[in-house]
Amino acid sequence: FDVSWDAAAAEKGGWSSFMAKEVAEQPEAVANTIRGRVQDGQVVIPELDGLDELFVGINRVIITACGTASYAALVGKYAIEQWARVATDVELAHEFRYRDPVIGDDTLVISISQSGETMDTLMAVKYARERGARTLSICNTQGATIPRESDAVVYTHAGPEVAVASTKAFSAQITALLLLGLHMGRVRSTLTDGTAVGELATLPEKIASVLEKEHDHVSQLASWMADTRSVLFLGRHVGYPIALEGALKLKEISYIHAEGFAAGELKHGPIALIEPGQPVFVIVPSPRHSALIHSKVVSNIQEIRARGARVIVVAEEGDAAVLPFADEVIHIPLAGAMFEPVLAVVPLQIFAMALATAKGLDVDQPRNLAKSVTVE
Ligand code: G6P
Repeated sequence: FDVSWDAAAAEKGGWSSFMAKEVAEQPEAVANTIRGRVQDGQVVIPELDGLDELFVGINRVIITACGTASYAALVGKYAIEQWARVATDVELAHEFRYRDPVIGDDTLVISISQSGETMDTLMAVKYARERGARTLSICNTQGATIPRESDAVVYTHAGPEVAVASTKAFSAQITALLLLGLHMGRVRSTLTDGTAVGELATLPEKIASVLEKEHDHVSQLASWMADTRSVLFLGRHVGYPIALEGALKLKEISYIHAEGFAAGELKHGPIALIEPGQPVFVIVPSPRHSALIHSKVVSNIQEIRARGARVIVVAEEGDAAVLPFADEVIHIPLAGAMFEPVLAVVPLQIFAMALATAKGLDVDQPRNLAKSVTVE
């Protein structure tokens, strides 16, 4: 008598996979990351009480992580530099400690890890500490090793993530980084963006709206593309890490060759890959944030379209400029520049999941991968 299937099905709560459940849980996960951290129109992270001097004193931030968490880190770089005006670099954990990085007591090393047990990230944190850097971890798992080895921790509170491919933990990690950037900006008196804190509260409902409006559209698109052998992703500014994450999701669970590029890099090489019928996702930033960045991305779209690419655009609702050059348009609601990544990633997660499903693959347990890599 085997009850294992029923037990697993029960845990999925009616969803076809843990990944489907976790994608759908993102509004709640992000709301849980924000909860208790906004007071009187300001971001205040209680766990960071007493660390104001540290945030004022640092000259440099290094964010270290692996895999999906390293793409969240890249979004964090943009947000921390913009709001807290401190130079921020992202280092893959396994590269960071095998060279001689310039770090000291004026450096804050932020690690990001869903599990809090990734060996490469843990070793990077230990290495940073030994070199005198201050360490802060962003983690989803209470009491895990990495937070225990760090000076401070900001938990994401996204809830347990079971599917190997990270989804809700990723949106929660970006949210935690946005909170941290706003917290540091307030403490360092560098924050001039008066609307950002208010945007936080609207994020969960905007994610819910992307799920509701685009789930079926994107799933259908993926089922039409089940035979696709290669997909490219382009993004600029904070859309760039999302292009990388969209490609990673596809590699991880659909076993399709996928690459993410910075859109500006297109002319320096990747455009040679474009041939008729090549599917390319383009993450288009809102023209309201920067008409210049938007127009650059629109001209990238024109360049690849002219070479026959099949262009699938992720753009803000009402962005008419992309319509003449796109084969498909996936809409996201209006949001602040730093908040768009959390919305733009959702259709890419759905796409990877639907494509893997169309190919008959196990979306939760992809071949060769582990949820948490606890060896170096
Ligand atoms: C593994 C997982 C990835 C994850 C990475 C980092 O490779 O398969 O999905 O992004 O580890 O995991 P962490 O727990 O440190 O965020």
